[in-house]
Amino acid sequence: MCGIVGYIGSNNCVPVIIEGLKRLEYRGYDSSGIGVLDHSKLTVIKRKGKVSLLQEIVEKDGMTSNLGIGHTRWATHGEPNEINAHPHFNSENSLIVIHNGIIENYRTLKTGLEKLGYEFLSKTDTEVLAHLIDSFLKRGHNLSKSVRFALNEVDGTYGIAVLYAKEPDKIVVARKGSPLLLGIGNGENFIASDVSAIIAHTNNVVYLEDGEIAEVYTDRFVTKTIAGMPIDKFVEEVSMTLEEIDKGGYPTFMLKEIMEQPESVLNSIRGRLLEETGDIKLGGLTGFEDRLSKVKRFIITACGTSWHSALVGKYMFEQYLRIPTEVEYASEFRYRDPIVSSDDAVFFISQSGETADTLAAMREARSKGALCLGICNVVGSTIARESDAGVYIHAGPEIGVASTKAFTSQLIVLALITVLLARRKNMSLEEGRALVKEFNSLPQRIQEILDKNSEIEEIANHYKDAANFLYLGRGYNFPVALEGALKLKEISYIHAEGYPAAEMKHGPIALVDENMPVVFIAPKDSTYEKIVSNIEEIKARKGKTIIIASDEDYDIEKLADHVIRVPKTASILMPVLTVIPLQLLAYHIAMKKGLNVDQPRNLAKSVTVE
Ligand code: AGP
Ligand code: GLU
Repeated sequence: MCGIVGYIGSNNCVPVIIEGLKRLEYRGYDSSGIGVLDHSKLTVIKRKGKVSLLQEIVEKDGMTSNLGIGHTRWATHGEPNEINAHPHFNSENSLIVIHNGIIENYRTLKTGLEKLGYEFLSKTDTEVLAHLIDSFLKRGHNLSKSVRFALNEVDGTYGIAVLYAKEPDKIVVARKGSPLLLGIGNGENFIASDVSAIIAHTNNVVYLEDGEIAEVYTDRFVTKTIAGMPIDKFVEEVSMTLEEIDKGGYPTFMLKEIMEQPESVLNSIRGRLLEETGDIKLGGLTGFEDRLSKVKRFIITACGTSWHSALVGKYMFEQYLRIPTEVEYASEFRYRDPIVSSDDAVFFISQSGETADTLAAMREARSKGALCLGICNVVGSTIARESDAGVYIHAGPEIGVASTKAFTSQLIVLALITVLLARRKNMSLEEGRALVKEFNSLPQRIQEILDKNSEIEEIANHYKDAANFLYLGRGYNFPVALEGALKLKEISYIHAEGYPAAEMKHGPIALVDENMPVVFIAPKDSTYEKIVSNIEEIKARKGKTIIIASDEDYDIEKLADHVIRVPKTASILMPVLTVIPLQLLAYHIAMKKGLNVDQPRNLAKSVTVE
């Protein structure tokens, strides 16, 4: 998820690495570190916070070498601090590792290594790699083979770089699920997780594919599969501009994050689905499952987009757990002297984990004895740290102010919690297995919708000058209507309202005329017949209709000015799919109005003030 840079050559590696890490700052991170090998001695400097702080310390230290690696960390396991920052040493400080990604089976590997006498300093999953590689070095294997053997035992994703004091002529790198490339220089070579980190030094790169490993020397590189088969890789010339590269080739962070959702959703479910038993594994709730399946009431409180995912969570919990679930705006909850007790479990949803109102609501609920559970994206954030337990959404850094991939990952985690608890109540093995299958199919189904991006952009052309919008949905799709309206409001500045579709008759339908675009979220589900009647009511008043419909629903065409189709999945997961077209519609309308979608006026990414 975060940044890797390395250098081997005749120049001082330190400024190259620091400059490269700065180029990767845009991806969001919480700590950074650098390790160099000089005269067979490994030296590591790492700190929580900004790369500029690391640079200050490194320069004061006078660190210099011709061989080194650097890392910016986006914590997934172990909160952001100096000990958990990378690089990580083996026990005798003869080897260092930096890692992007998640080692899913790190607990099992760690237990095995501890039995062999290894001691761990950090709380990260990554440190397992340092000791695992060491365990193969101790059996007489060289570094490259030891890295391969270690990675053969790893489940999860990685982009890694390794230095070994006894083989001071190389960097060993490997990739599975987290990008890694080699930069080919003249008498010097580079490694990086993103070409922007080294584009200032070379345009010649070698992209590693998943399951590949490379030994990088000053004047050459050797590539193999992790299984040990030699492979030939060709050098490509990169022509992209630096500005483009910073956003992964996308014009904005928001579009990058919308397009990343197959990967971010995959990261949210990774290691958490038990296909055999149709069950769910959430480490952060271990020990709380029984209490949670027996609480008298759930309360879910949040702000903004996170409040919308909370509303979807209500529908999930009440449908599958039959436990009353209340959804509260955190800003209201905290000041109402809420009626909360130890019979309640309160979830706090926050992408940043720092939203002042949500944090204050947690402290209020805790003071009244409730069980407080965090659902956050930023590891080690205040809300995450102050909760009794919780689940990280693993969406990766979300830079765009308008939340997109964090919303879908919040929905995933709420659905995972629902199935986890429902399987302790009355959800059958078959139903659990069927839902696990649906979770697994989501990344590919999201991609099918993202592939309609240009179709949605074309629709945006018709509505970029609208003054108002209505978004209507029923059941699970009512909160999606609210989220779609918020997306449009906050980046295009067009007034938009989300409503329960049936609510139109009670006043808002007075707004409808030929100038009113109305977005309906109307997949074929239990409320479909009813929402078709609502669409007819709008058509009768000449409203323009943009309908999010199921793939196989052709009847809807006669009622729609525009149709955007989404594949079917379990109703509990449909919001993950139906929100995607709304994200893209809002995005393209705002872009056609020439607005700054990444930093909309008046907004901040994390509202840490009241
Ligand atoms: C959503 O697009 C906005 N950025 C905003 O509503 C956001 O969801 C809200 O401020 C809550 O932020 P949090 O999830 O970090 O707590
Ligand atoms: N999972 C590792 C950690 O939490 C690496 C995170 C990253 O990709 O930055 O330290």
